[in-house]
Amino acid sequence: MSPAAPLDLGPVEEFLEERLGLSRASLHLGADLEAVLRERVRARGCADLDAYRRELDRPEFARQELHVLAGQLTVGETYFFREWSQIEACIDVAMPERFAARPDGDPITVLSAGCASGEEAYSLAIALQGAYPGLVPNRIRVVGVDVNPLGIQRALRGRYSEWTLRAVPDDVRKRCFVRAGEDVGLRREIAGLVDFKVKNLLEDDPAFWRPGAFDVIFCRNVLMYLAPQKMVELLERFAGALAPRGFLFLASSESLRATSAAFDVAHTHGVFYYRRSAVPTAPARRVPGDAARPRAWVSSIHEASARVAEVAQRVSPSPRPGATRAPGEARKAGAGRPLGPAELAAIERALLLIGGERFADAMTALAALPPEAASDARVELLRAVILCQQGDLSRAERACRNALDAGDDGAAHYVLGLCQEQAGDTAGAAQHYKAAARRDPSFAMPHLRLGMLARRAGDMKTTRDELARASELLVAEQHERLVLFGGGFPRATLIGLCQAELRTQGGRG
Ligand SMILES: C[S@@+](CC[C@H](N)C(=O)[O-])C[C@H]1O[C@@H](n2cnc3c(N)ncnc32)[C@H](O)[C@@H]1O
Repeated sequence: MSPAAPLDLGPVEEFLEERLGLSRASLHLGADLEAVLRERVRARGCADLDAYRRELDRPEFARQELHVLAGQLTVGETYFFREWSQIEACIDVAMPERFAARPDGDPITVLSAGCASGEEAYSLAIALQGAYPGLVPNRIRVVGVDVNPLGIQRALRGRYSEWTLRAVPDDVRKRCFVRAGEDVGLRREIAGLVDFKVKNLLEDDPAFWRPGAFDVIFCRNVLMYLAPQKMVELLERFAGALAPRGFLFLASSESLRATSAAFDVAHTHGVFYYRRSAVPTAPARRVPGDAARPRAWVSSIHEASARVAEVAQRVSPSPRPGATRAPGEARKAGAGRPLGPAELAAIERALLLIGGERFADAMTALAALPPEAASDARVELLRAVILCQQGDLSRAERACRNALDAGDDGAAHYVLGLCQEQAGDTAGAAQHYKAAARRDPSFAMPHLRLGMLARRAGDMKTTRDELARASELLVAEQHERLVLFGGGFPRATLIGLCQAELRTQGGRG
């Protein structure tokens, strides 16, 4: 195999999508796939990539290679107490119900599915042990699984960098961690609270996934990397293995949308979560997006370029007349030329694909645009949303900067805030949400996020003020911004979340 000859990655990508569930786009996020495969071809002594692909049909070869490839291709970004509100919701709402549902003393099992290097599973164990002293690990079991064997090795070692502890409160740090050179180690009694296993969530294992095995599943920042059909398969697996009315927590940027009829959505503590339906319904065996509603988007493309133009305009309106631009925010030469009907149709198509969580396809739709249109603020914004959803935060931030540079009116600041929140920089995120709200005072979403951040920081007055503002603005929030930023939830559900939170806070609701 000549090192310079480009490889046809398609057949191996197809194999990896089938076996690991990762979408084609996410196979390229963790590493340079081509370089990784060249190295595997060499390491296994195969003549070329075709020969390597044929070898993958042998079960033992495939098992070994999936182990190695999962270690190199998955994105394991995580940190302790990444989403405190969800852990609080688990303790305050899910656990009391699960204790009541298991009165005979059967263990209550909490699964961290896609636990990376263990921070999420340990955060749950630490918080549950604090809330229910003495009950972890016998009455409450915490299990962490991940397909990446290196992640599980790190979890078992229990040593972490200071950076992964950035959201850990001081008292928890003192109680649960000790210094270990430059790193921080988990105290032995804490490390023993979680069972870790290397496990591919997409692989059959009837004993592990037996009906009712789990009371609560945390599967955060995993679905976003999966191919749509694989996401459907995994949700079916979760529905089968959760106890009736068991709890499923996803990341705040993820949602089930229309992919599964086996779950009901609910909210508490400012977060959404899902309950397995009491009587399992036949799962919706379909993928979101085109396949689910072909007529809707096909006709929308053909119908009205005028409507499309309006839509595209409303997603990210042109700068206000006289709006000042910070130094360095000069509009790019050539950006902002009026887009033609075909380009606007491509934007509309990308929007619809994003609405169906078909992020890779949405990116392909945008990639087909001519270079002049590709630097348009609206296009850069959609690109930023997609990259942020795919967890590719540095490229998402670059796209946001490009969007701002090309005249975006605030939504790009909102996406920058989401990126910084995902990276654990809540102060930076708040700055961007405030900038987004300043630039477009009718934009509800920044107020919603600012309310949630304030809630997490214990600042109840700001929580009430921001959620009240979000609740008011959501009534008239642009449909397209709900599609892009509403996490798949309809307007009424988002308003309901704000109102419920305001009632809890004793404010107006
Ligand atoms: C971004 S991390 C999320 C970590 C943690 N849940 C969080 O939210 O902080 C995504 C994890 O999903 C894991 N993953 C991806 N596909 C998987 C599969 N098929 N089976 C098990 N784990 C998988 C990756 O190895 C990676 O560790």
